[in-house]
Amino acid sequence: MGAKSFLQFGLLSIALRAAHALTPAEWRSQSIYQVLTDRFALTDGSTGACSDLNDYCGGTWQGIINKLDYIQNMGFTAIWISPVVENLNASTSDGSSYHGYWAQNIYEVNTNFGAAADLVSLSDALHKRGMYLMVDVVTNHMGYAGCGDCVDYSVFNPFNEESYYHPFCLIDYDNTTSIQQCWEGDNIVALADLRTEDADVLDMWETWIKQLVANYTIDGLRVDSAQQVDQAFFPPFQTAADGIHILGEVFNGDPSYTCPFQDYMSGVLNYPAYFWITQAFESTTGSISNLANGINTMKSTCKDVTLLGSFLENHDNVRFPSLTSDVALAKNAILFTMLMDGIPIIYYGQEQHFSGASTPSNREALWTSDYSTTTTLYEFITKINAIRTFAINKASSFLTYNAYPIYSDTHNIAMRKGVTGSQLISAYSNVGASASASFTLSSADTGFTANEAITELISCTAVTADASGDLDVTVFSGVPGVFTPTAALSGSSLCSSSTKMVKFFAA
Ligand SMILES: *[C@@H]1O[C@H](CO)[C@@H](O)[C@H](O)[C@H]1NC(C)=O
Ligand SMILES: *[C@@H]1O[C@H](CO)[C@@H](O)[C@H](O)[C@H]1NC(C)=O
Ligand SMILES: *[C@@H]1O[C@H](CO)[C@@H](O)[C@H](O)[C@H]1NC(C)=O
Repeated sequence: MGAKSFLQFGLLSIALRAAHALTPAEWRSQSIYQVLTDRFALTDGSTGACSDLNDYCGGTWQGIINKLDYIQNMGFTAIWISPVVENLNASTSDGSSYHGYWAQNIYEVNTNFGAAADLVSLSDALHKRGMYLMVDVVTNHMGYAGCGDCVDYSVFNPFNEESYYHPFCLIDYDNTTSIQQCWEGDNIVALADLRTEDADVLDMWETWIKQLVANYTIDGLRVDSAQQVDQAFFPPFQTAADGIHILGEVFNGDPSYTCPFQDYMSGVLNYPAYFWITQAFESTTGSISNLANGINTMKSTCKDVTLLGSFLENHDNVRFPSLTSDVALAKNAILFTMLMDGIPIIYYGQEQHFSGASTPSNREALWTSDYSTTTTLYEFITKINAIRTFAINKASSFLTYNAYPIYSDTHNIAMRKGVTGSQLISAYSNVGASASASFTLSSADTGFTANEAITELISCTAVTADASGDLDVTVFSGVPGVFTPTAALSGSSLCSSSTKMVKFFAA
């Protein structure tokens, strides 16, 4: 094959790959960066502050295209963007629809974010880089400014008749029927609750999602308000979406409530782990035992924890640094979410250590950071994505290997993920930046052997297992570490001198 035809063949295979949407199993190896479209980047790249976080700040799909290097250079392989459809256009005391969750016309795009052609361009730009697109969709409700029961249904497209909706009532979260049939929202913005159990409503959503996924070559979906939708709605909806992966939002920390949703959609956001990780690392007195027990409970309760989305922050919860300004604690919590089972999701701004608390403060304009790529956490997240990619390339079974706690005490926890030879042993502590902690990990748990050469991957520090294969770990200044056999690094650039990173884990 000549060079030219080889090149053509290469381009053809890239084009074919881009045209094929990712299966749930293929999402396991991705790493997702969550973008709030209105807050990520302005089309012209300017960096002036946003004057009102309750209103549109001007971020666009073209803005995202222009800043894809910032995302990809951190090691992310996919982005999750805000809902894309035309929303309620009004300024209310609940703010405006800049977040995209108040749909009125699902057959038009939200022109605040750009034209349909811009969304196609974003999808193309991602696929050209070998990256993937996850789009947020809302199937539970449509948005209307005004009191709950005075909705003019004719403004919606489709679902333009009252008969598509449940009668107005506000949700009682102790009652499952009420969660599915009553309305989210309040008396300022009504979220008119669709009868997702009805065949005609399902049929209209199936028609739409099939077109949306095809028109914009979408690779995955995040489904908003999934627990408020009839569960039987999801299997046919996911089939209509070409079977691409779904991460459903089930905002509940109880595994026995959240896990069963995996019987209806391929994945959910891991809210139970979110609560345990936050509570373990938000202070120097957080509960490590709840985290250790919780991880084990998730594994035995969920159908497949490796298909869940792991996160520490998102647009609905206070940012972690609003709970503690300690960067060492943030590193522990971020590392834990990225190396646990499931698909890691980092919310835009985590890499800048943004610290907004309640909505809308947790939805800062990223451009005020000037997109610095030299912050401590930008570099830290980059390194962790590289470590995860290394482990996956070394043994793809890393993705389906269920991580488990091999050690825990009041302040410290160690996890193992991966088969012996390229196992990652990660060590965490909530002692914080002003303290250090030491503990010993036994050979039987780590899989390390007598006198084995081990490398701590974040700092690229060499350590050695003792004569029985045990490893003494010291968490200096509260900063976590990740250990693997040094032999596994052969052929990898992870700790070669040219890529040696800033020392995070000081020995
Ligand atoms: C929203 O309404 C305002 C005022 O009526 C109008 O100027 C603006 O173009 C509308 N925006 C969209 C996206 O339709
Ligand atoms: C649960 O909510 C449904 C829907 O609003 C309502 O009809 C039912 O009476 C509620 N059940 C209880 C026990 O409150
Ligand atoms: C998909 O594209 C077709 C052709 O342009 C258009 O008629 C249809 O409304 C689009 N559907 C969606 C959901 O964007």
